Amino acid sequence: MDKGIFINNEWADHGLEKIEVRNPATGEIVGTVPKGGKKETKSAIDAAHDAFPSWSALNAYDRAAYLEKLYDLMVKHEDELAELMTSEMGKPLKESKGEVQYAASFVKWYAEEGKRVYGRTIPPSKDNKRMQVIKQPVGVVGAITPWNFPAAMITRKMAPALAAGCTFVVKPPKETPLTAVRLVELCEEAGFPKGVVNLVSGKSSEIGDELLTNPKVRKITFTGSTEIGKTLMEKASGQVKNLSLELGGHAPIVVLDDADIPYAAKQTVASKFRNGGQTCICGNRVYVQEKVYDEFIKHVVAETEKLKVGNGFEDGTDIGPMINKDAYEKVGKHVENAVNQGAKCVTGGKGHEAENGTYFYEPTVIIDVQPSMLIMNEETFGPVAPIQKVKTDEEAIKYANMTPFGLASYVFSENYSRGMKVVEALDYGIVGWNDGLPSAAQAPFGGMKQSGLGREGGLEGLEAYLETKYISIGMK
Ligand code: SIN
Repeated sequence: MDKGIFINNEWADHGLEKIEVRNPATGEIVGTVPKGGKKETKSAIDAAHDAFPSWSALNAYDRAAYLEKLYDLMVKHEDELAELMTSEMGKPLKESKGEVQYAASFVKWYAEEGKRVYGRTIPPSKDNKRMQVIKQPVGVVGAITPWNFPAAMITRKMAPALAAGCTFVVKPPKETPLTAVRLVELCEEAGFPKGVVNLVSGKSSEIGDELLTNPKVRKITFTGSTEIGKTLMEKASGQVKNLSLELGGHAPIVVLDDADIPYAAKQTVASKFRNGGQTCICGNRVYVQEKVYDEFIKHVVAETEKLKVGNGFEDGTDIGPMINKDAYEKVGKHVENAVNQGAKCVTGGKGHEAENGTYFYEPTVIIDVQPSMLIMNEETFGPVAPIQKVKTDEEAIKYANMTPFGLASYVFSENYSRGMKVVEALDYGIVGWNDGLPSAAQAPFGGMKQSGLGREGGLEGLEAYLETKYISIGMK
């Protein structure tokens, strides 16, 4: 039996058609999962709904004990999870290991933080009243997760949801369902009661529709493109469903002329080429002040040229394959558009498309980029760093904010006052100041403008799974 559908603590493939999962570095089939749809999703929601009263009634310490067990199992199976992730997503093994640790850190952190869900009492203005606020879990949660972080984007949703007392139905992406299956197997081994964690692999539109229209689902949490996020929002409006959306980004990196340039270049490369540029918070466009422009480019090019492209299982690989043809073609289109309009490609600039359906793109740096070029106006989601020269801090801020997106941004400056002014002016949910890798379980992650609604991670990420109930008590 192929695993991919887990409902009420039972795996079943229901004799369904299969989805083939391919290694994007070799084209080989690495596994198959059942193509679930509306029926399976409905059963998973029913299971989660039935499990909700008893799971939410457990005290936070008992719920935390399950999460602690899951954390221990994730740590124990780190290598195996990482290998599975590289085989279906392509990211270098060292990055997969980093992601398993990152994914486990959400489980650990929310196991603890679930014990700190506090209400409050409010001083009444009448002698015969008492006023209280309590927090309660929202109910059944439907989660739709992306391929670029096959484990962490599940645990960043699941851990706070379970810690808060919610039950969970997750739909993994068709590209990387195998990591999700293994994670859910570990949930099974950790002994979560039946119906608390459910998984449905399969047809996105059918599963999504059922999650959005079934009244038993009280919250949807999604990570993916802004385009799909808008569709989900429209559909969720029918039942005014609670939504958390982590959508597209178009992160600017601002390098001021007082920055530590070799350090800023290293951090820019770390941010830009993380996961081969296939990360929502990757730096997507770089604005550098003219006084340090040439020096910065020299360092960025030197750092970029150290990166090795290849199969994520090979030693020393820094950049794996692109996930598919569309992603690869978008990168090529952005580079071509910039170069045709006068930008210069100073390293990289070439892709490799093989007959086995694999797509690799060299880490690329383009300079003398202009604000009108496509690459400065759309998220590339690939390994290309376009660099534009700017004069003043104000000009850098203007270009950085010139987008409907507002997920992550970066600024490099050694001067507190200057740096802080830029930080405050950036319309972004996350700012890395002299830090190209800001993500952490204990910190809020999410965007402004069309980059999403709500936050994951940190206190805010737990609040997202809680309702606020105000109780007014009359005294006789
Ligand atoms: C994402 O690409 O959405 C996740 C990146 C992160 O958590 O750092």
